[in-house]
Amino acid sequence: MMRRVLLLAGIVGSAAAYPQGPVTANGAKLFDFEKAQLTEDILSKLDDVFQFDNGDDVKLNGRGAGADCKVFPGDSAWPSDAAWAKFGKAVGPGALIKTVPLASPCYNGPLYDAAKCDALTANWTNSFLHMADPTSMMSPVYQGLTCQVTEDPTQSCTLGALPYYAVNISTVAQVQLTINFARNNNIRLVVKNTGHDFSGKSGGAGSLSIWTHNLKNIKHIPSYSAPGTSYTGPAFKAGAGAQAFEMYEAANKKGLVVLGGEGKTVGIMGGYMQGGGHSPLSSLYGIAADQVLSMEVTTADGKFVTADFTQNTDLFWALRGGGGSTFGVVTSLIIKAYPDMQVTASNFSFAVGGDVTLENFWIGVRNYLDYFPSLAAEGIYAYWFILAGETGPTFKMMPFLAPGKTADETNALLAPWLAQLAALNIHVTPVTTNYDNFLTGWEASFPLEVVEKTHVASGSRLWPKENWANKESLDAMFNAIKTSSEAGLIIIAFLIDPSAQATPPDNAVNSAWRNTYSHMIQSVSWPLGASAEFQKETRQNFTFGAMQRWRDVSPGAGSYLAESDILEPNFQQSFYGKAYPRLLKLKKQLDPKDVFFAQTAVGSEFWQVVTADGLPSGNGKLCRVKK
Ligand SMILES: Cc1cc2nc3c(=O)[nH]c(=O)nc-3n(C[C@H](O)[C@H](O)[C@H](O)COP(=O)(O)OP(=O)(O)OC[C@H]3O[C@@H](n4cnc5c(N)ncnc54)[C@H](O)[C@@H]3O)c2cc1C
Ligand SMILES: *[C@@H]1O[C@H](CO)[C@@H](O)[C@H](O)[C@H]1NC(C)=O
Ligand SMILES: *[C@@H]1O[C@H](CO)[C@@H](O)[C@H](O)[C@H]1NC(C)=O
Ligand SMILES: *[C@@H]1O[C@H](CO)[C@@H](O)[C@H](O)[C@H]1NC(C)=O
Ligand SMILES: *[C@@H]1O[C@H](CO)[C@@H](O)[C@H](O)[C@H]1NC(C)=O
Repeated sequence: MMRRVLLLAGIVGSAAAYPQGPVTANGAKLFDFEKAQLTEDILSKLDDVFQFDNGDDVKLNGRGAGADCKVFPGDSAWPSDAAWAKFGKAVGPGALIKTVPLASPCYNGPLYDAAKCDALTANWTNSFLHMADPTSMMSPVYQGLTCQVTEDPTQSCTLGALPYYAVNISTVAQVQLTINFARNNNIRLVVKNTGHDFSGKSGGAGSLSIWTHNLKNIKHIPSYSAPGTSYTGPAFKAGAGAQAFEMYEAANKKGLVVLGGEGKTVGIMGGYMQGGGHSPLSSLYGIAADQVLSMEVTTADGKFVTADFTQNTDLFWALRGGGGSTFGVVTSLIIKAYPDMQVTASNFSFAVGGDVTLENFWIGVRNYLDYFPSLAAEGIYAYWFILAGETGPTFKMMPFLAPGKTADETNALLAPWLAQLAALNIHVTPVTTNYDNFLTGWEASFPLEVVEKTHVASGSRLWPKENWANKESLDAMFNAIKTSSEAGLIIIAFLIDPSAQATPPDNAVNSAWRNTYSHMIQSVSWPLGASAEFQKETRQNFTFGAMQRWRDVSPGAGSYLAESDILEPNFQQSFYGKAYPRLLKLKKQLDPKDVFFAQTAVGSEFWQVVTADGLPSGNGKLCRVKK
């Protein structure tokens, strides 16, 4: 705390006293980093680009106000080096980072370093590498692929969709200053937590980035209670930078579990929670955003507020499911925790070949679908794949996860389907393991995933429960899935029902999540380096062919915004469901100047990223859509 105060003191020339700020009703006090806020006293010593938006517009003339596009590097309205230096001084020593692409050591120039390049190349698909970098995006296809690791140092390395500058956040005051500076200069603002986003929403060309990764505080609250919610029980307050492995470990130490994703390094207190978030525990406890009890947020005007069941309730509603980078920058959250439990995980796979005919393979997969309603009712979460291959498709269950169940109970749940498989000459040998706590079971079952998608596009569907109403509708859905696999697409799917055992609170989570037994992703790839025309055609075929076939057999259903197609038509309905009209109204109210933008986020339909090659990415100016 003391260090932060001194940092800020640097900008105002005198030691500033920070207000205690709001204290949540239950006594869950602000973290020290949240007590370091801008005050009127500090602001009175700073010039107009650092001021809050009080509705009384600071003079933006000459800074591109009202222009068709956000101010871009090279534009006359882009802040001068001196102005950036002033900003750097305001946020404190070392906090403002000028972007250097992570792969720079692989390219000729002052940063060339063959040994460093080799080390980067060896680890390039490891998420730990990219999450520790201020700006690296784990879906480089949306960065524009302008600086990947390479063996050819003569190629060029440019920023592409990487932000121009990032602020390494360690206080709320820095978040406030960055929002104010970006808004008052009409610069594109982005937020990066880990950079896991499928659609590259943590980046954007010519932007200033708020990098939340180092907000790591985690505090156990043994017994939470607060006005406006009937919940009383264990909870955790954590900084927005806390990741799945950190939250699971902290909960485990207290004999508890929290909802997070299957992915080890996903930043579950950042984009995950705001976009909904599905979890291995969702069939027991619902969507991750349903667990949120309170949030600390800096809004588009630069003000720091608490959003919970009694304060800023509209904002609180929107931030639980309405998506990241839209309504504000969340710096910490309080979420529910539950007693730790045993989990059983079962792995198995089968493929066409030997005794297994192609016909029987598909009958076996079709049989599996029949069990989704009964398995979901038991709290089951299954993570499974259908991989296309030269010799025919492969089904992989990795894993079938049964929270709270013994190995015997789990095997009993699988037995009817496995008996059907055996009758089809599909003999599988499940490896079923019981773990006496969630953390150990999760660590054993979900290895660190490979990141860095360079020539892949994905789309997804939340298959509606109506599809299980009768044989015809389930067959129709099954046939659409099979057709995708036959076309060579990879299918990654979940058996999950967030409504199985939990009553959802009123929040902005996509209504399609309340009516599903399965979230299913399909992905198409193209040869790396394929022409822009070829990529466009591949993507068109995917979005309006393969994905349309899935939409055709699930009319009115939706898609999970965080694992979705960036080109999804009518994304407003697909990604936000019934919440969209209210979300858009709140977006206009809470962020009238569109300080926050991310592709496919609420209100993004009024803006477009103009790319040189016409491919969807963050690599271009952000401009208003002309009516
Ligand atoms: C390997 C892998 C595994 C995954 N597993 C799961 C899973 O099990 N369940 C699941 O639901 N999803 C999963 N996802 C998807 C995941 O939910 C999204 O990628 C999510 O966007 C990641 O959030 P992040 O904060 O880590 O990433 P980022 O890319 O840094 O941020 C995502 C978005 O949220 C915004 N944002 C981040 N932090 C804040 C903040 N504090 N305030 C405001 N806006 C913010 C960013 O601007 C961006 O738009 C997985 C993704 C990958 C790549
Ligand atoms: C790759 O990253 C891991 C940490 O995630 C690190 O331990 C290892 O040394 C790295 N390897 C190389 C070759 O840099
Ligand atoms: C970001 O700030 C943290 C302190 O909050 C520091 O530990 C870390 O090294 C900084 N990272 C970079 C890349 O400057
Ligand atoms: C299940 O499969 C995953 C992924 O292949 C693997 O990492 C894990 O070790 C397997 N677990 C068991 C118990 O076989
Ligand atoms: C797109 O689909 C059309 C019609 O099926 C097909 O002729 C074409 O080859 C496909 N293009 C690509 C790039 O896959």
